[in-house]
Amino acid sequence: MSETGSHENVSDEKLPSAQENGHGAVATANDPFADPGLPPHEPRIQDIDEQAAKRSERVVAMLFTVSMLATLGFIASFVTVPVDKYVHIWPIGNIGALNFALGMTLGVALFCIGAGAVHWARTLMSDHEMVDERHPVAAEQETRAKVMEDFQEGAKESALGRRPLIRKTMFGALALLPLSGVVLLRDLGPLPEDKLEHTLWAKGKLLVNENTHEPLRPEDISVGSLTFAMPEGLEEDDEEFQKEIAKAALMLVRLEPEDIKDKRELDWSHEGIVAYSKICTHVGCPVSLYEQQTHHVLCPCHQSTFDLSDGARVIFGPAGHALPQLKISVNNDGFLEAQGDFEEPVGPAYWERRA
Ligand code: FES
Repeated sequence: MSETGSHENVSDEKLPSAQENGHGAVATANDPFADPGLPPHEPRIQDIDEQAAKRSERVVAMLFTVSMLATLGFIASFVTVPVDKYVHIWPIGNIGALNFALGMTLGVALFCIGAGAVHWARTLMSDHEMVDERHPVAAEQETRAKVMEDFQEGAKESALGRRPLIRKTMFGALALLPLSGVVLLRDLGPLPEDKLEHTLWAKGKLLVNENTHEPLRPEDISVGSLTFAMPEGLEEDDEEFQKEIAKAALMLVRLEPEDIKDKRELDWSHEGIVAYSKICTHVGCPVSLYEQQTHHVLCPCHQSTFDLSDGARVIFGPAGHALPQLKISVNNDGFLEAQGDFEEPVGPAYWERRA
């Protein structure tokens, strides 16, 4: 394309023939600022030699095929290369083998699609030179119709219909490339299934002091203070300790039974000792501030406040749900034990919460 509006200001005598200097070329001998016009059109070798066109076609197909192989290599690398393996790449030094393999294969896949498209356009698509005048930005209906017509003409001239090898390999490369993104979803980890709905608490599990790791008796829970507990058998050096304690952390408070307003809370308590999840139902901070006079517990993160004498319902703050209560009793040896798991998922908003 070229702008030729300045030709109107040049006398016809100065305009050379297209054969001499190309389309619309202007003599420049005495005027260094004159429009040089377009250079003479040189037909490409592919336009006059079908063998050369075939060679170009094979090069384009080869680039698209390499892209497909690189995409498959990306997927294979993702599955087979260990994350903790390192390779030495000069001059960068030691880098993760997985990152290197993923970067290289994805880079090659994208590069080959681009290079194939560029080589195809430069050597095999239509080589007609044309001049387009500048015009207002707003397109008339007529212009849009022309664009569609040109688009269809371009599609025809790209020879997609006549060159099935390019068409198939290009569609193959473009169809395979998104698979790279799909396999990366695996990095989101395994589905949680019902793990979020359950904790380690079960019928008969002893309540163990979170600091001393000793089983708790009712007399260990004094009026006016919070006691933190966890299920027996959970050790701090367990691989899953952090995940499990994040769900099972418990706080115990002794209230006067007559102060408990909620009937179910009273039924699930033992001699006024109530056990609630320590995990705030807003975004999961540990609730840790207790006010004895009001029986309120406060979450320090965003000040959600729960009333432990009334089913731990929210009386202030952004939390959306009461703290889940754990049903407890005392076993024959006099230790506090759970009567089952929490009846609902603990912690922040949950998509299948029943209460
Ligand atoms: Fe408890 Fe926000 S996490 S109030």
